[in-house]
Amino acid sequence: MKKIKIGLLGLGQIGSGVYRILTRKKSLLQKKSGVSFEIEKIAVKSPGKKRAVSVPSKLLTRDAMSVAKNGRADCVIELVGGVRPAKDFVLAALKSGKDVITANKALLAECGEEIFKIASRYGRRVFFEASVGGGIPVIKALREGLVANEIQSVLGIINGTSNYILTRMTHDYLEFGQALAQAQREGYAEPDPSLDIDGIDSAHKLAILASLAFEEPVRLRDIACEGIRAIDQNDISFANQFGYSIKLLAIAKKTAEGLEARVQPTLLSKDHILSKVDGAYNAILFRADEVGDMLLYGKGAGSKPTASAVVSDLVDMAQGRPDKKTNPWLTKRRLKIKSGSSIQSRYYLRFSVIDKPKVLARISGILGDHGVSISDVIQTERKVGNVVPLIMLTHHAGEGAVQDAVKTIDRLPVIKGKSHRIRIED
Ligand code: HSE
Repeated sequence: MKKIKIGLLGLGQIGSGVYRILTRKKSLLQKKSGVSFEIEKIAVKSPGKKRAVSVPSKLLTRDAMSVAKNGRADCVIELVGGVRPAKDFVLAALKSGKDVITANKALLAECGEEIFKIASRYGRRVFFEASVGGGIPVIKALREGLVANEIQSVLGIINGTSNYILTRMTHDYLEFGQALAQAQREGYAEPDPSLDIDGIDSAHKLAILASLAFEEPVRLRDIACEGIRAIDQNDISFANQFGYSIKLLAIAKKTAEGLEARVQPTLLSKDHILSKVDGAYNAILFRADEVGDMLLYGKGAGSKPTASAVVSDLVDMAQGRPDKKTNPWLTKRRLKIKSGSSIQSRYYLRFSVIDKPKVLARISGILGDHGVSISDVIQTERKVGNVVPLIMLTHHAGEGAVQDAVKTIDRLPVIKGKSHRIRIED
């Protein structure tokens, strides 16, 4: 039976999950893949630390670079995360003749072209199923299952933490801070939650998905990114009254004017299939010319689902898939990126206004002057002379026009506080 020797970098949540599968499911994996996997060495920060799995101490080392370069291993699984020093380990492994399996979305989104150039120069492969959507086999589906298709758009809920927070705000009426604290207690959000709640984790993943979908490198800087910090209970409840839920969506679309790629809180009709994706779950909806709409749904994070994706890469690697030549990061970029200000969308606008006559007329006048037409208005509270929320939904309008109009409106003396603007995805 074919034997594959592995160097493992990192024994945190995902690393422990991989170790558990490789040791406890050894015979199942042998039966299903015809390959026997052996862990050669594991690099960890603290060898003495108590872990979810018990590992013979002779397998552990603090020296990650020696594991990356270890001549006895066939491949390296990088589960360190972040760009540095993970990138040094990945490049060292490739240069010393090993294939690499990684769950590191930041590394691929920020340095994909460099990593794959080195991999190609040294005749090695880099596998990254676990970098997007945790246990959902989205990379494989896109590369293999959808190979006959031209992809028109990708719409994803690809950050479980933000989706958990928005779900708790929607169903349990929590304020943002309370929902975030709950996400931290449940182990979804990190003590510093910025990567998740500011949309950066979703943007990393979208860069990878869009590169594969559109067969050219899509870089992190091509993606307009906005997180969910500014969403409050008012937005959730007004969106609900209009028949929408708020989701952090990662969107990539091929249009006649170029590629539109953004991560942003979005009002989605409650009838939209992604509206029903709740809690820490992820879902990715592809629209493609042959298959039509296709939805993948599952656990986007966590030890077991992510380890499941890493092990599927191991099997692919051992069985010689995929073809080394089909790689968007080695392709010359021709795609134009559509400018944010030219994107057309409907908008939800929330103004904090002094409740007095003519305010509504003044605001709608400014929107009208910028060519922005209003479809719905709500002002439920009546507190003459006090600050109340005024909500407007617009018809389709250019992002630039809406931005300019809101800037002008925010300077009116009757406006108190910064206005909220959220796109509506039809
Ligand atoms: N923190 C991410 C999430 C999982 O909440 O979805 C790892 O990318």
